[in-house]
Amino acid sequence: MRIAFFEIEDWEIPYATNNLRLTTNDSVKFFERKLDKDNLPQERDFDIISVFVGSCVDKDVINAFPNLKLITTRSTGFDHIDLTSAQEKNISVAYVPGYGDNTVAEFAFGLILTLSRKIYEAYDRLRETGSFSSEGLRGFDLAGKTIGIIGTGRIGCHMIKIANGFNMNVIAYDAFPKEELCQQLGFKYVLLDELLANSDIISLHIPYLPSTHHLINANNVSKIKPGAIIINTARGAVLETDALINGLNSGIIAGAGLDVLEEEGFLGDEKSFVLNDKEEGHNLKTVIQNHVLIDMPNVIITPHNAFNTQEALQRIIDTDIENIKNFAEKNKPAYPVARQ
Ligand code: NAI
Repeated sequence: MRIAFFEIEDWEIPYATNNLRLTTNDSVKFFERKLDKDNLPQERDFDIISVFVGSCVDKDVINAFPNLKLITTRSTGFDHIDLTSAQEKNISVAYVPGYGDNTVAEFAFGLILTLSRKIYEAYDRLRETGSFSSEGLRGFDLAGKTIGIIGTGRIGCHMIKIANGFNMNVIAYDAFPKEELCQQLGFKYVLLDELLANSDIISLHIPYLPSTHHLINANNVSKIKPGAIIINTARGAVLETDALINGLNSGIIAGAGLDVLEEEGFLGDEKSFVLNDKEEGHNLKTVIQNHVLIDMPNVIITPHNAFNTQEALQRIIDTDIENIKNFAEKNKPAYPVARQ
């Protein structure tokens, strides 16, 4: 098998090389850069490619690798891979389920506390002005408040456990509710509109799918309880940027903690997009809106970093190696993405 890893870090290279247990017929190449149609490697005869969330494995990329049999992503979300094109060419796709239930939930609570207790504002002001005053830094307790969890999967359930530790009331919405969890974890399922109307904090933990595209949007943002805070560590496009900005402007939404953004791939790479005329297929209005959000004092944005702990990365690379070894030995990855 010829294997290529993209978006790989230095420490992962010896680790993967040692643990893949390659035979003399196998070879592996490591690329630090992301993979997309504008960043294809010269060598393309790989059987397996492993990517992370910065890559975009669309139809053009899939067609560029004539021997491709398996695409693995070292992430839980797989919306950066064109599953239909992979399926048409009988290429398996594998992912990493559940490496970071606690990792992402801990981060989401970090965003909540940053907003509820104005931690960043306090720190920034002290550093910038030297003023040791608490004026304007009054926050609110989490105990007794209602948190609405959208998506009660692995990460959402961990959110519920942490929220219980803070003595919060928990309500949740899921398209496929698992009623047995309610008693186990102590929460109540409600309809989406009810969740929006009653939550002081709303936190999104759903995958990005056609059914979750703009789940919170211009039609339902007005149903949010005035003064609520919204947290998105799922995927940018589950929350319509237009609606978010309008909600923040009108004061319905008091603050937002966002680890993911629509069109986040553009941020940091804008110069190259403009110079190379790569705007096609991207919503430039959203790109501008992202800058508006970054400048808002009641919005905290982090660069898709919720997964990023040493422990989670170790679990990710171990699962990716397991996917690849299973495929090499049994022609099936350990954790295949179900055919759509
Ligand atoms: P999961 O698959 O365990 O749970 C997802 C839940 O969403 C399930 O309970 C499912 O029934 C529900 N769901 C699916 N479609 C729905 C719909 N249309 N409406 C309402 N609920 C729906 O996923 P997990 O592990 O909890 O991860 C959730 C998402 O978090 C991932 O798909 C990924 O996009 C994101 N993520 C973000 C990270 C980051 O670094 N910011 C890191 C890891 C995951």
